[in-house]
Amino acid sequence: MICKYRYGNPFSTEATVLDLPVLSDSPAFLRVRQEENSIVIRYPLDKSDVLYGLGENVRGINKRGWIFESNATDDNLHLETRRSLYASHNFLIVHGKETFGFFVDNPAVVSFDLGYTRPEEMVVTTDTPNADLYIITGESLTDIARQFRQLIGRSYIPPKWAFGYGQSRWGYKCEADIRDVADKMAAADIPLDAIYLDIDYMKDYKDFTVDLERYPDLAGLAADMKARGIRLVPIIDAGVKIEEGYDVYEEGVENGYFCKNADGTNFVGAVWPGKVHFPDVVNPEARRWFGSKYKVLLDQGIEGFWNDMNEPAIFYSVPKLKQTFTTIEAYSKLDNIGIDKYFAMMDLVRALQDASNLYDQFYHSVDGKLVCHKDIHNVYGFNMTRAAGEALEEMVPDKRILLFSRSSYIGMHRYGGIWTGDNCSWWSHLQLNIHQMPSLNLVGLLYSGADLGGFGENTTGDLLLRWLAFGIFTPLMRNHCALGHRQQEPYQFGHTEMFAQVIKLRYSLLPYLYSEFMKAALEDGLYFRALAFDYPDDPATSQVEDQLLVGESIMIAPVYQPNAKGRVVYLPEAMLLLRLRSVDDYDSERVEAGYHHINCDLGEVLVFLRPGHLLPMADPAMSVDQLDEKHLKVFANLKSGETASYVLYQDDGYSKDYENPEHYKTIRVGQAGGSCSDEELELTIRL
Ligand code: GLC
Repeated sequence: MICKYRYGNPFSTEATVLDLPVLSDSPAFLRVRQEENSIVIRYPLDKSDVLYGLGENVRGINKRGWIFESNATDDNLHLETRRSLYASHNFLIVHGKETFGFFVDNPAVVSFDLGYTRPEEMVVTTDTPNADLYIITGESLTDIARQFRQLIGRSYIPPKWAFGYGQSRWGYKCEADIRDVADKMAAADIPLDAIYLDIDYMKDYKDFTVDLERYPDLAGLAADMKARGIRLVPIIDAGVKIEEGYDVYEEGVENGYFCKNADGTNFVGAVWPGKVHFPDVVNPEARRWFGSKYKVLLDQGIEGFWNDMNEPAIFYSVPKLKQTFTTIEAYSKLDNIGIDKYFAMMDLVRALQDASNLYDQFYHSVDGKLVCHKDIHNVYGFNMTRAAGEALEEMVPDKRILLFSRSSYIGMHRYGGIWTGDNCSWWSHLQLNIHQMPSLNLVGLLYSGADLGGFGENTTGDLLLRWLAFGIFTPLMRNHCALGHRQQEPYQFGHTEMFAQVIKLRYSLLPYLYSEFMKAALEDGLYFRALAFDYPDDPATSQVEDQLLVGESIMIAPVYQPNAKGRVVYLPEAMLLLRLRSVDDYDSERVEAGYHHINCDLGEVLVFLRPGHLLPMADPAMSVDQLDEKHLKVFANLKSGETASYVLYQDDGYSKDYENPEHYKTIRVGQAGGSCSDEELELTIRL
């Protein structure tokens, strides 16, 4: 059951899709007090309570013990002491003495003190006195999660090729670099479905332009690549360069489509190109206009985009920059700078990049009224991606287009996926990636993933390999790295065959992974789950932070420590361990319930097949389009005399007739062999 309460006069974020009545009684579980400028929600925490949720954030799967803030921030150091990253996902499930979920729909800053100030209390505080509060009760964690997803609407579904491996780097400068990556991947026999274009493809960092010196024929390049099974995926930034003669800038100014200062002039911030205006994507008309611009790239054969810097990130504002220069100039006249002045001076320059003190200086036009950005800050990235999502739906109604974003708010999952932004090449960030995925699934962001190998800092071959071995399960599987750091394509570290082996496993697993993704999206289910969701009666499962359930059949236990030759795994029940090197090269072993140390060498992947379940796999291919899904190798974990069935989802990978019953095929396996409702499918059974 979902109960809705309203405080003050909340901004319509459009996070939800169900029209529920607003109740007038007091909410269950939570004590809510409305103050002049905020809403304060309290809940006494029992020792046994575990807190799941808050989507993209630092720390563990259980969020208890820290203070988080929903405050979309461009922060490239995801330290465990951070309170917020790029997104705001104000949904939590309390699981313990009482079990319920709640969503605080407020687009301004919201803080979640989850036992930080007082270990026995949760205090949620909004920065404005307006919010809708939803409280969800249900039979189980999964049921609560499903009801929440029904409230916020169906998750975005990307084209199937977007489940292939993607190679990215901020630093591929020109067409030759792109061709070089494609050639070297092919030479190393590593599958590849996408190469990403970072800001260097644009002319002077102007959205919807192409630098013709670097990319003289983008359409030709896109076509050549597509013929090899590779799509190009360009980045789009939120800021629009201020430059006379640049059509996007001129149209935006002419039609009043940019965010405004209080006096009605266009707000100026600065990002990659220097001075920019920000499209007022919260305003439907401006949103429609900005979205229509993606056509420029669609027309050149592009089938996917990533939206960036949409918190929005602002490097500086002009007055702040001027003021900083003036102060620095004053410092330059001093003949000695001691400790205090030195630190003050350093802080001054650093503070330039803190956009948060600019968010109260610009406005959006909503229903003819000016709304201060600060009051709706967290929905900017959502609306930028919505701009693209709505326009793509209109421009290419019959075909799925890849779309994902850096910033997001609950509701954005209907338009696109996300990547988790600028992580680092740290083992702890591989672990963070494991923690983030189930929390993101709770808010409907099924199509998501992290920069595999790490974005900042220099990666190592073993870190990348282990990260890929986890990344083969994340729907978005992209290796991305920052300018200036070590090249981290999978052919850079020697032992290329090991990288090929792991990436090929992704393709072999795709019949299963894609089926599970599609069923999760179409049935409001969870593709990634913490163990307690399926084994709620086993208290040990709520302690497990480094194993995940992926779909209905398997549990994974990634290795995320340097130099480890394996790891300890907790099994809530006996399972069939598959130590995979390829679909045909593996060890299998029955492992009893309990704690076990399981060996896992570099290049191997641990998959635990649950009892009574099936895992369909295919031979690998060099791209998703080339995958032979008619011949499947089906692993089964059956007791003697038992039969099991599995619903496979197979479609053309780009049409939108998702509910067509023909896409659902049932595989049945017993001791005597297997069969499929689609007789064209040939099964090899592995009992
Ligand atoms: C931001 C993005 C990163 C990208 C860079 C340059 O830092 O998060 O992925 O490579 O900008 O566009």
